[in-house]
Amino acid sequence: MTPLYQNVAAELAQRIAEGHYAPGARLPGVRSVARQRGVSVATVVAAYRRLEDEGHIEARARSGFYVRARRPLHTIEPQRRVAAPRPRLVSGQDMAMALIKASHDPRIVQLGAAVPDPDYLPTQAVARALARVARLQRTRSAGYMMPPGAPELRREIARRMSETGGRIPADDIVVTTGCQEALSLALRAVTRPGDVVAVESPAFYGLLHVMESLGLEALEIPSHPREGMALDALGFALERWPVKACVVVPNYSNPLGFLMPDANKRALVSLLGKHGVTLIEDDVYGDLGFDQRRPSTCMALSPRADIIHCSSFSKTLAPGLRVGWVASGKHRERIEYLKYVSSIASPTAPQLAVAELMESGRYERYLREVRGKYASAVARMGDAVMKYFPEGTRVSQPQGGFVLWVELPGKVDSFELARRALKSGVSIAPGPLFSASGKFRNFIRLSCARVWDDRLEQALVKLAGLVDR
Ligand SMILES: Cc1ncc(COP(=O)(O)O)c(C=O)c1O
Repeated sequence: MTPLYQNVAAELAQRIAEGHYAPGARLPGVRSVARQRGVSVATVVAAYRRLEDEGHIEARARSGFYVRARRPLHTIEPQRRVAAPRPRLVSGQDMAMALIKASHDPRIVQLGAAVPDPDYLPTQAVARALARVARLQRTRSAGYMMPPGAPELRREIARRMSETGGRIPADDIVVTTGCQEALSLALRAVTRPGDVVAVESPAFYGLLHVMESLGLEALEIPSHPREGMALDALGFALERWPVKACVVVPNYSNPLGFLMPDANKRALVSLLGKHGVTLIEDDVYGDLGFDQRRPSTCMALSPRADIIHCSSFSKTLAPGLRVGWVASGKHRERIEYLKYVSSIASPTAPQLAVAELMESGRYERYLREVRGKYASAVARMGDAVMKYFPEGTRVSQPQGGFVLWVELPGKVDSFELARRALKSGVSIAPGPLFSASGKFRNFIRLSCARVWDDRLEQALVKLAGLVDR
């Protein structure tokens, strides 16, 4: 169970993030908070200390606790339309492999891969659930769990998905080995090599890798930093090119972190419907909104449209469980078959453990705790970037998830920067990884799901020095 002071701290962090306590404001005294909440003074003091450690507040001698003043953020502007997009074969993703390899090296400060530090993950609850499954369902977990996957897990996923709007039957869900496999199966179900697929620009690089391996051409549609895929640009592109599918991350995209408004989600679905294009929706960050609200999915808003929904528990429970899923009425049979062809089945024990964590309410409780933590981690990283990086740097303003997209001033080459940073013990994700055509040369993505300590702060100072040079 989460200690009481952590719950108090998470609630206060949330209120700070939502602006109930403005930067520079004095927080109520510990005694009055203790009285109001019916907890001990020691609990409130521990909560305040935690907020201090996380960088939300500062103690001033003999005066109390104050909300830290935030530096003005210079936020990323919408892209200027340069030329109409045209499809390109995706290629040249060697840097991504270097990043992936670096993510195992404990000497390197990991700001590159979007993988949370174990401190942010419910590792103990996951370990207990796995142990229980091993003990109570020993023979079942030793066997194949053939597609579509464990019935109890599919039921739990369907129940949760239905809470975001439309009803999704458990029969429409196929369990996969993570969201990456979900995306791969979805694309394989509706395209053939040489087909054109519309993607966000910037786009999650794992998606571009899958497309590379399937011989698909990417049609890059610019994303607005706060609203997602530019629908007018998509409309023009659909008139011009024979697009087969369109992949979006509407809830807390990677790398921009925007939340596409519901009206845009509906307009997107209707536009694609008019052109007979399948929408592939990647919702892997959907549970990680900073305001505790679970946003709708395109599938829930338009249950009858041609949509394949992909997600996983990699950003919430643990990436190592490799439990993900695809939901689709129309393409379910094909996807189920492709899942069997690609790996026969996904490992059984993790599926049963995730089902148990969802059923017991542990998953939901964890989400309530971690959302506030990610909101603070992202805000803190944004502040540090504005503090240390040179004049002219801009950052995204994510509404969920845990990555920050940073635009560097002038002629900084982020590939070269990433190489030098790696040599100095810091990994970052350079901007061109997020494009099929080498765009975003002067951008980087930073993963903020790190415990804040001196080593991390020094890594940012080092990085800022390299940018300056
Ligand atoms: C947007 C997005 N989709 C999919 C994935 C892959 O998820 P998984 O680890 O579940 O395969 C990631 C991981 O970084 C991601 O950021």
